[in-house]
Amino acid sequence: MTGSSRMPVSLREGFENVKKRSKAARSNRSLALGAGMLNLDLIRNIVFFLFLLRWTRRALWKLKGRGLIGTVVEAYVDIRRVLYGIFLRLPGVRTQVRKQVEEAVSKLQGKLVPANATRYLALPKEGWDQDAVRKELETLANMDHTRWEDGYVSGAVYHGEDELIKLQTEAYGKFTVANPIHPDVFPGVRKMEAEVVSMVLGLFNAPPGAAGVSTSGGTESIIMACLSARQKAYAERGVTEPEMILPETAHVAFRKAGDYFKIKVHLVACPAPSYQVDIRRVSRLINSNTVLLVGSAPNFPHGIIDDIAALSKLALNKRIPLHVDCCLGSFLVPFLSQAGFESQPFDFRLKGVTSISCDTHKYGFAPKGNSTVLYRTQQLRQYQYFVDPAWSGGVYASPGIAGSRPGALIAACWASLMSVGESGYLQSCIQIVGTTKKLIEHIQTSPHLSSELEILGNPLVSVLAFKAKTLNIYDIADAMSAKGWHLNALQNPPAIHVALTLPIVKVWEKLAADLEAVVEAEQEKERARVAEGKNVKGTAVGDSAALYGVAGSLPNKSVVVDLATGFLDLLYKA
Ligand SMILES: *Cc1c(COP(=O)(O)O)cnc(C)c1O
Ligand SMILES: *[C@@H]1O[C@H](CO)[C@@H](O)[C@H](O)[C@H]1NC(C)=O
Ligand SMILES: *[C@@H]1O[C@H](CO)[C@@H](O)[C@H](O)[C@H]1NC(C)=O
Ligand SMILES: *[C@@H]1O[C@H](CO)[C@@H](O)[C@H](O)[C@H]1NC(C)=O
Repeated sequence: MTGSSRMPVSLREGFENVKKRSKAARSNRSLALGAGMLNLDLIRNIVFFLFLLRWTRRALWKLKGRGLIGTVVEAYVDIRRVLYGIFLRLPGVRTQVRKQVEEAVSKLQGKLVPANATRYLALPKEGWDQDAVRKELETLANMDHTRWEDGYVSGAVYHGEDELIKLQTEAYGKFTVANPIHPDVFPGVRKMEAEVVSMVLGLFNAPPGAAGVSTSGGTESIIMACLSARQKAYAERGVTEPEMILPETAHVAFRKAGDYFKIKVHLVACPAPSYQVDIRRVSRLINSNTVLLVGSAPNFPHGIIDDIAALSKLALNKRIPLHVDCCLGSFLVPFLSQAGFESQPFDFRLKGVTSISCDTHKYGFAPKGNSTVLYRTQQLRQYQYFVDPAWSGGVYASPGIAGSRPGALIAACWASLMSVGESGYLQSCIQIVGTTKKLIEHIQTSPHLSSELEILGNPLVSVLAFKAKTLNIYDIADAMSAKGWHLNALQNPPAIHVALTLPIVKVWEKLAADLEAVVEAEQEKERARVAEGKNVKGTAVGDSAALYGVAGSLPNKSVVVDLATGFLDLLYKA
């Protein structure tokens, strides 16, 4: 080995030494490896144990939350959904389904997108003169539409009187360029925004130290409250797999928040006859990952106020935040008692309530794009803030999702609240809730309607929902549409609701009469059908009957998802 013979002595010795040592090591290797393996095994066992623990814990939570039968039913529904999903993807079925969805969407397009109107798909080469723009705007405002002006639309427009609209437009005009992101440039806007929040805090009996923010709408208010609860649980309890517990009837914005922020959503049934959330089931679903409980005052589908007092007690006991969704109740629920109507506790006077969402753009009569979310403490509000101290664009801080925001809307919101005032809201509560009661009574006492329609629960505010006892309720909805009404179709259970607003108050008797005529006509049709010996109930003809009656009953609703997605695409069809 020439190489090794030329090696310097010291190095060669070193080499020999290594060889010797490695020989010794070789005889020891099995032992050392054994010890290593032991360590590995131990680690593996621990990991496996932790994994097992986690899944056992989850399984136990599930069993506790849903009960054995509930868990089995849930598994059954899931399996059906997966199997039906597979069925829908079979080659023949898939093309058939796609064809039908496309047909339905193009039918919808016929209704939504006028075919013969002039379309402007690119910037005009030269800007139009202002009169031309004005003229076109006039045409756009007068396009054929469901007549909210005549009170034919449920919800949607809550006030609609010219005088208020004029004032709002003026306020908007004064602050068209304003943006609260620059409070030094637009100090008036900052002041008005803070004052709006303060006014709403007062309405909901907020304790000293409470705080709030304004947002672009109820959905954003709810999303922010969920974010705050998630951040709180993470910061204070290290919760990394957050969960929240919702009444099935709670607004869909909570599910959206769950989707956006990866908060697992547990839905709890709101059974008849009260249609309030089942508090015992809520309680059973609480575990150490729960970051938020939710109640509505009232909810959108049935206009029912959940048992907020019981939820509050539960929240206090378990030390979990409770959000009360008053987006719809907004400026009506705070005035119920004063107006002499039956009410239920719903606000910060209940100690367990930690946040409330209230839409100024519903019964607060502000223009669309305005809402508030209120917190019991400043700390809770801070959990929704976003601050980045290191951005190259400068230190950045914003209370919510938006960066730049329309100061004009803030001014219009402030102007609305100031001009309507407490007396105005009390008056509108008396009118709107009073009319709701009249409509309920009419449905429950008129011989035709009372034998066929059933009001869901005991609605205390401005929304009433009803289902049909023998007829297909969606046929009734479609027949009402044919008479120019825009009511809301509901599902689980199939029903219709009406959200009363000031424009509807003026025509509620016409609504009642049309409903009566429609029910009579549908009953007549049904009798004819039976006489002909056809026992198939209601041949789905109208839109809601088709959507909710047929597609809605499928085990896997992916077809409905496709349809709805097609609808969204249509909104941007120029
Ligand atoms: C309207 C409404 C909301 C929020 O809806 P937006 O359209 O985003 O303002 C939330 N909860 C209830 C009960 C509602 O009726
Ligand atoms: C429902 O069906 C669709 C395909 O049609 C599938 O993508 C989806 O995963 C199914 N849902 C479930 C929960 O299996
Ligand atoms: C388009 O057609 C409808 C009826 O089909 C008509 O009412 C409407 O005025 C037409 N619009 C234009 C811009 O021609
Ligand atoms: C009004 O609306 C804008 C955007 O829609 C929002 O940023 C602002 O906070 C709202 N202001 C009030 C007072 O509600």
